[in-house]
Amino acid sequence: MEKIVVKGGSKLSGKIKISAAKNSVLPIIAGSILSGGRCVIENAPMLEDVFVISDVLKSVSAETVIDKENSRILIDTSNISYGEPSSELVRKMRASFLIMGPMIARFGRFKISLPGGCNIGTRPIDLHLKGLTALGAEVSIGHGYVEAVANRLIGNKVYLDFPSVGATENIMMAAVFADGETIIENSAEEPEIEDLAKFLNNMGAIIEGAGTDTIKITGVKSLRGTVHKPICDRIEAGTFMVAGAITRSKVEVVGVNEEHLKPIIAKLTEMGVSLELGEDSIIVDGTKILKPVDIKTMPYPGFPTDMQAQMMSLLCTVKGTSVITETIFENRFMHAQELKRMGANIKIDGRSAVVEGVDMLTGSEVKATDLRAGAALILAGLASEGETVISDIYHIDRGYVDIENKFKGLGADIKRIEA
Ligand code: UD1
Repeated sequence: MEKIVVKGGSKLSGKIKISAAKNSVLPIIAGSILSGGRCVIENAPMLEDVFVISDVLKSVSAETVIDKENSRILIDTSNISYGEPSSELVRKMRASFLIMGPMIARFGRFKISLPGGCNIGTRPIDLHLKGLTALGAEVSIGHGYVEAVANRLIGNKVYLDFPSVGATENIMMAAVFADGETIIENSAEEPEIEDLAKFLNNMGAIIEGAGTDTIKITGVKSLRGTVHKPICDRIEAGTFMVAGAITRSKVEVVGVNEEHLKPIIAKLTEMGVSLELGEDSIIVDGTKILKPVDIKTMPYPGFPTDMQAQMMSLLCTVKGTSVITETIFENRFMHAQELKRMGANIKIDGRSAVVEGVDMLTGSEVKATDLRAGAALILAGLASEGETVISDIYHIDRGYVDIENKFKGLGADIKRIEA
């Protein structure tokens, strides 16, 4: 088992290039099932989750080639026939569920094992299924599987009780071949959904309004293959912005879209971090005295839950009291326990965490309890006295490309060891 060892205290400097968004690429790979042709994803992030979803496609007979050297993924779904995805893979990663929409659209059915993934709450799939049912699918759950069949999907109006990212993506993909028009109301507005719609539209789909709270899909008969370059990863960008702030350093984060980073930019600015916005880069200057802030996670364009843990690490190092309220997932404070091992002063009260900044965090042995929690512990380690040893780093590898080398490039004292 590998571990990451971080020695705190180094100032960071220089430029860091951000990779493409994992949360764009996962639905895009799933969506390539709809193409019935060859798709190429350029500049794809070479990550564990990306390999898993590619294997899920392989398990339903798609041809997928991961060209690591050129960061390219080639997917040919022209000859795929109906198949059930490997339950072992599906249980490994919740996002495997994104093949439900494409499978029902292309084959009129699917059978898939109930999901796995980060342990950050119960994460039901009722909204996905509600949407598919509204389009005419007959859905049943039993024996650890969810199954659906539909002779023909028919466009309909679907109102989501909550703007779920995955449900919006699944329903959008299911509706691509449905008869007539589908309207998703209260849809999630994340940039990754807009990116998926762009990919599908390039293949011949007719999707309007992606990126807003109302998406209209007009059914078409078939799609074709395409080449797509996904958007950059706003969460990876945010993580490195926090790295600049938590080490009280000045770093440049390159290859970003400022529009997608607005809530993170707003919070860091409120804390007193100076941000110089360039065309596709941000210079983060965390050298001034920082102030505590309150944060409430919300659906996009609100503050992203995927940045909550990293911000908690930062706030642990800022004098004064900050309150973090997590409204998206009910069990997403597991990193607080680990941060406390490092000397943090955090009190959890239901969905809120009260963080009292301490003079200095201390390096400790800690565990990455989920993907973003792992990133938060690296950040805390960078600002700690002594050495932090992080275990269960497979969570981190699910979502961050070459993380220790990226930090090393900025001057951090960090290494991966075989434990
Ligand atoms: C996606 C992201 C994940 C991010 C999350 C919220 C991907 C691959 N993952 O996950 O990184 O943390 O958005 O921004 O893009 N819910 C229901 N019923 C459903 C579906 C969701 O109650 O049918 C609830 C979930 O339990 C959770 C909330 O809605 O509390 C948000 O979930 P959702 O937006 O669906 O997240 P994911 O698509 O799983």
